[in-house]
This record gives sequence, C-alpha cells and structure tokens, in this order.
Amino acid sequence: MRVHMTDPKIEGGELPPSLPDAAREHAALAEEIRAHDRRYYQDDAPTVSDAEYDDLRKRLNALEAAFPDLVTADSPSQNVGAAPSEAFAKVRHAVPMLSLGNAFAEEDVAEFVARVRRFLQMKPEDELRITAEPKIDGLSASLLYENGVFVRGATRGDGAVGEDVTQNLRTIADIPERLKGADAPERIEVRGEVYMAHADFKAMNERQVEAGKPVFANPRNAAAGSLRQLDPKVTAERPIRFFAYAWGDASTVPADTQSGMVANLKRWGLPTNPLMKVFTSAEELIAHYRAIEAERAKLGYDIDGVVYKVDRLDLQKRLGFVSRSPRWAIAHKFPAEQATTVLENIDIQVGRTGALTPVAKLKPVTVGGVVVSNATLHNEDEIARKDVRIGDTVIVQRAGDVIPQVVAVVDADRKGRGDAFVFPTKCPVCGSHAVREEGEAVRRCTGGLICRAQAVERLRHFASRGAMDIEGLGDKQIEAFYEWGEIREPADIFTLQTRESREGALTSLRNREGWGETSVRNLYAAIEVARSQSVDRLLFGLGIRHVGEVNAKRLMRHFPTVAALRETARAATPPDPEVRGDKGNEAWREIVDIEGIGAIVAKAVVEFFREPKNDPPLDALLAEVTPAEMETRASSSPVSGKTVVFTGSLERMTRDEAKAMAERLGAKTAGSVSKKTDIVVAGPGAGSKLDKAKELGIETLTEDEWLSRVGEA
Ligand code: IVH
Repeated sequence: MRVHMTDPKIEGGELPPSLPDAAREHAALAEEIRAHDRRYYQDDAPTVSDAEYDDLRKRLNALEAAFPDLVTADSPSQNVGAAPSEAFAKVRHAVPMLSLGNAFAEEDVAEFVARVRRFLQMKPEDELRITAEPKIDGLSASLLYENGVFVRGATRGDGAVGEDVTQNLRTIADIPERLKGADAPERIEVRGEVYMAHADFKAMNERQVEAGKPVFANPRNAAAGSLRQLDPKVTAERPIRFFAYAWGDASTVPADTQSGMVANLKRWGLPTNPLMKVFTSAEELIAHYRAIEAERAKLGYDIDGVVYKVDRLDLQKRLGFVSRSPRWAIAHKFPAEQATTVLENIDIQVGRTGALTPVAKLKPVTVGGVVVSNATLHNEDEIARKDVRIGDTVIVQRAGDVIPQVVAVVDADRKGRGDAFVFPTKCPVCGSHAVREEGEAVRRCTGGLICRAQAVERLRHFASRGAMDIEGLGDKQIEAFYEWGEIREPADIFTLQTRESREGALTSLRNREGWGETSVRNLYAAIEVARSQSVDRLLFGLGIRHVGEVNAKRLMRHFPTVAALRETARAATPPDPEVRGDKGNEAWREIVDIEGIGAIVAKAVVEFFREPKNDPPLDALLAEVTPAEMETRASSSPVSGKTVVFTGSLERMTRDEAKAMAERLGAKTAGSVSKKTDIVVAGPGAGSKLDKAKELGIETLTEDEWLSRVGEA
C-alpha cells in the first residue's frame, strides 16, 4: 500500500503568487484529502497520521482564505467532518420524503391549477383554495414527536432512508424539545427546512476566517455542513434555524386543510413561515409570487421560489402522487442566477448511449455563490444557434441543482473573433463515425461495443446508486477495472472475485494501487449483496433508452422477471403504420397496456431485447444474479400485486384518479381484460370488458365496492 509522505511545504509555507498557481495546488490537495477520507471512512485503513491529515486541511483552508474563488461546493472544506452517511445511523421514513415538481413560467402555474381542477373534475364555479409560501433554500429534515416530546430527527437522505441527526437537531434553538398544547397528536413527524440566515452566515464566515478555518460557499452549504457534523457540540455553535411546513407519519391530523395544519404546528410551538397565504386563482398565486420575489433580498434568508399547495387535505389525498412528487403541489422557481465569464475551450464528452455532449470549459466564475468552471452547451445545434466560439465572453446560468448552462455570447461583435466551432463527426474516444439520426439533435458515436467511453459509461450506470448500487465501485474504480481488462461488461463484476483468486496473488486486486485488504473485502461483500438487488433496479441498470427508474418500476410491476419481459418483448410486433387500425400483436399490447408505458418506451424495450448483440452479455448477467422482488410501497394493501381494469363511467372519481389510486396501493392497471386480470371495476355503461371479465370468471366490483375494498370508502 502506498504510504503518503507529508510535503514539508504544506505546514505553513508561503502562499502561491497567483490564482492559477493556487488553483493547481488546491486541486491536488483536494484530491489528496478526498483519498484520505475514503481510506479513513470507507476502508478503515488510513495511511497518514491525524496530524499529517490536519496539516493538509490547514493548507487547503489557508489557500481558500487567501483565494476565496477556490471555495467550491465540492471542496473538502465544505464538508468538514461530515463523514459519508455510514457515520450516522439510518432512519427509514415511515412516509417517504418526496420532492416537488417545478414551474418556471407563469403559464406553468396556470397549467398546474387547470390540471388540478381537471383531475378533480371541478366545475368552473367550484372554489379551489391553494396556499403559497416561500421555498426555503436549505435542507429538509424530519422531527418525530411522541407524546409531545422530540424523540428523533433525520435528514431527507434519498427520500426513503435518511440519517439520524437527532442530537444535532436538538441544538437548534428553533426546535422545541416539547410541543405546546394538549391537542398535539400522540405521534407526529414534523417536516421542514433547516437553513442559515444571511447575517448569521456572514458572521460565521468572518469567525472562520479569523480562526484560519474554511469559509462556506453559501448559506445552504453552511447549514448542511453544520447539521451533518459528527460532533453535536460543533453543530451547537452553528447558527442554524428551522421552518416547519409539512408533516409525515402522524397518529392523527387534526385539521382539514394545509393552512389549518400549519397553524397547528405554529400553536404547538414550531416556527412557521409568516408569508404563507391562501388564494383561489392562478393570478393571485402569481401576484403573491411577485410580492415575495420583491421582498426576497430583504427576507434575511435564501429562498429559491414559491411553493403552491392545494389547501384541502381530502383533495390532496385524491390527487395523490406522480412518481416522486405530489400532484397537489408545485414549486414556482425564481429565474436562474447568472454571471459572465470567458469560454476557454469546448470539450466533447461521450455518454452511455454514445451521445456526444459539448461541455464548456470556463474561466472559473461565481454564480449564485458557487464557483462554476464547466457548463453544458447541450448539443451541436445549440452551439450553432448561439454561435458560441472559443474565446467568447458568455453568460452562464445556474438554476437550482441543474447543471450550469451557457445562455448566450455577449461580445460576438468584437474584432479578431475566432472561427465558428466545428462539431466533430468522429467520436473523440474511439474514432468511429458519429452520426445524427433524422429528427435528432444529438450526434452519436456508432462505435457501440468497441467504444470505450460508452462501455465505461454503461458500467458506471449499472453500478450506480439508483441502479445496482454497488458501494466501492464508483466512477474511478469502474474506469480502472475497465483499463485493466478486468470488467468489460456487467456480468464481469460478479465473476471478479472468482477470477481474482484463480489468477494468483501477483495480479490480485489487493496488490493494485488504491486497493487494500479491507477495501477489497468490502467490495466483494457489496457485489454479493448486489446479486439480489431488486429486479426493477436490475432493469434500470441495463440502460435501455427511455427506461429510467420510474418506467423500470412500471415494467417490473407487471413482469415477474427480466427474462419474462424479454420473452414478451421478443414476441412483440408494433403496429404497422401502413395498416389502418393495426394495434400490434398481443405481446405488444401487453407492454403498451401497462399504465404509463407508451409506444416510444415499448419500442425501445423491444429493440433492446431483439438486438442479438445484447443476448450474450444479458444471458451472462442473468446467470449471475438472483434479483429480489420489487419493493412496492403498498405491499400490505389488499390489492397489492393485483392487475385491475377500470371500465364504464366512474362517479366518485375520474379514471385517471382511479388508476393513480390503484397504483399507489401497489396494484397494476391495464386497459384491456385478459386472463391476467384480477379485478374489473365496472361503472355504469360498462360493455365488452365487463362481458369478457364474466366470461373469464374474473372478479368484478362496483366503484363503491372497490373503494370499500381499498379502505377509502
Ligand atoms: S413541501 C411533498 N414546502 O423543497 C413535498 N418544501 O423541491 C413536501 N422546500 O424537499 C415539500 N421550502 O426540502 C415544501 N415551503 C416548502 C418548502 C419546501 C423548501 C424544499 C424541501 C423539499 C424540496 C422539494
């Protein structure tokens, strides 16, 4: 194992004369610190003493104090002591912590209100009350109160599982240890945002500079870094605050409306935002949005938009969720923050599907508190449309968490401007032709299996968090294994250990740079766990076009295994566009009948499984894994796993609403009745589908019977 020798220059030492020199040293230091963090936290195998490690950090801090431009959101200074999540106990949220859909334009707000009204089949004269409140730019947290006493607090994490930060949350003065009032529910999980006020942020950064410690890039990072401290004493010294705006699991919800419940939270002693108001039209919501925007700079804390929520809780329930966001709420974001800088170069990156993406290499610039040096240029046409050329001064914008983008050139009329950018027609990685299909904006490398970039990206995707989630097999490791020729396709991951032990000690992984006994053992253990990763993640990991996490779930809710999906996909024939009324064969219809799966997705799935080149790697992979069944959110519901068909007119809810409810409860919905149907819910006017159900002896229910079956009558 490589042992790090401390460079004597690092302790104290002179500061570099210029920003580029400092930036170079800073980048090298940051990488070194990250590597030590990994060895310490993940491998339990540090290679330097604590004192040596501290010196590296001190030098990094000194550089950042002298050159504040170096403070980027991902600098190690921004997560001092914030060990990877393993350092905290995990908390599974009884009710997932979801995110919000976004609206950017005023039309999006009108569309949101119209969509809600449509979904609920409201008449024009029916009143729809909607709350509007600031969207706080912090990090969300959940506070569990039992019998009025704060017992556990957690971060959002990935929405399903967060980190237990109870002790840290206890140090926040805004968070009451006990709820006031006798009517607080026996158990309630209060949700809200942890944030840092501007004045506190400024004062804290001044103290940090004085003490020679790192400064934070923005209040959000400062709040996050402070909450995720391993030592609650450090959190206690940080001026963080809390706004309550929602709730999760609760023994009772003593209110009929969002605003009523938030008023309760306030009565129980929790801080709530004073700018929340209730309105009845999109125009009023927008007017409030503008009023809040005008006040934005004076609020004293960062907000990044306004959140609208349907006020009545019974309507919220009917509206339910679409994938990971509620249908009853939306975030209306403020316009993105912008800055100008020089475009130094244009890099072409090659993605998993062979797409060539132009990336702007920028002179580092601070945009909305974060230093940006890369931005997307989207594609060839966008570069041409904006006529972006190397050496131009450009406007860069950041909006929320999205990748920064180049918006426009500001000095196109200057003298001596360079030539227009010529987009490559060959893959910069493998040299194969890169072509554009008709109607596509993207140019793709045709190298397929021979293109290293595509292969590596596919493997990265396969092992990534959202897919097989193999810890210890991150981007860098995948790349190294690929280079060594050890992992070329997904199945190789699972045969790695056997091959390694067979090949003898000399080539064995533990002798490779960056690997030691512990990390190898951990990697093998993580790979073993991944063998039984859930089947929807396996499908998602295959990287089929248009099959993201949501569609993978939709497909695997219907098909028991990837092999079963493959069999149907291979048998499927899409409709012939030349033949009027052709709906494709039965296998095709089985796929497109799955709720949420349309012809585009179905076509991509069929093409993938019909491609003979995909067979050997897929067969090899399927032989190595034993996927677990997909986790359904409602595995305990009486209709979980059942296939339901709604037919005829429904009276108490719309068809969309009915389908959404069924899926929320873990059922699959289909458009036509077949042997695989379990329940047909028939309203008045049901015709051939009801007949077919009777013929096949399938259970039929009225709308009321359905509602009482699922406990929503
Ligand atoms: S409501 C079901 N209200 O925004 C969603 N969220 O983009 C419940 N946020 O994760 C969230 N201010 O961290 C809600 N007034 C507010 C908010 C707010 C900030 C954050 C929250 C959430 C994210 C969603």
